[in-house]
Amino acid sequence: MKIKMLLGGALLVAISFNAMAESAEDGAMKLLAAKEVSFKNDVQPILHDYCISCHQPGGKGVLKSGLDLTSYDNLMKGTKFGKVVVPGNSETSTFTKLLTGTNKGLKMPLGLNAGGTLDRQYILTLRKWVKQGAKNN
Ligand code: HEC
Repeated sequence: MKIKMLLGGALLVAISFNAMAESAEDGAMKLLAAKEVSFKNDVQPILHDYCISCHQPGGKGVLKSGLDLTSYDNLMKGTKFGKVVVPGNSETSTFTKLLTGTNKGLKMPLGLNAGGTLDRQYILTLRKWVKQGAKNN
């Protein structure tokens, strides 16, 4: 009887924990869904702060991959091997995939805080922008 109650309690805690995690994620997505992400106002400042130190002409990201992130046109051109943005699909876009390190262990920004990731809100902004069609807005 006691054990049953204990188990029940643990299950309840587990379930509500799960619900909390989900609602936080939902909340963040809804917040972002509410407004259209702008390349100029939302995306470019993130690229400026976290990417172009390497992804500008002469930087090691450009030297190695050819990906120049200093403008919309260059981002859409991609690397010397091909495009990194698939408009509408943030799961298959290398551009957003690499932010959480799901592409052959490669993670961007390279070397950030010993393998850390970009702030969650920035990742969501970049994903949302791709999902909304990767517009030059
Ligand atoms: C410290 C330098 C550095 C920073 C900062 C950096 N990158 Fe890179 N990036 C590289 C290098 C070097 C490569 C080439 C990696 C390779 O081919 O092994 C690369 C390659 C890439 C590629 C192409 C990968 C492929 O599959 O060919 C993408 C997309 C990318 N970076 C996105 C970003 C984004 C987005 C940011 C900012 C959030 C960023 N990078 C910040 C150095 C950097």
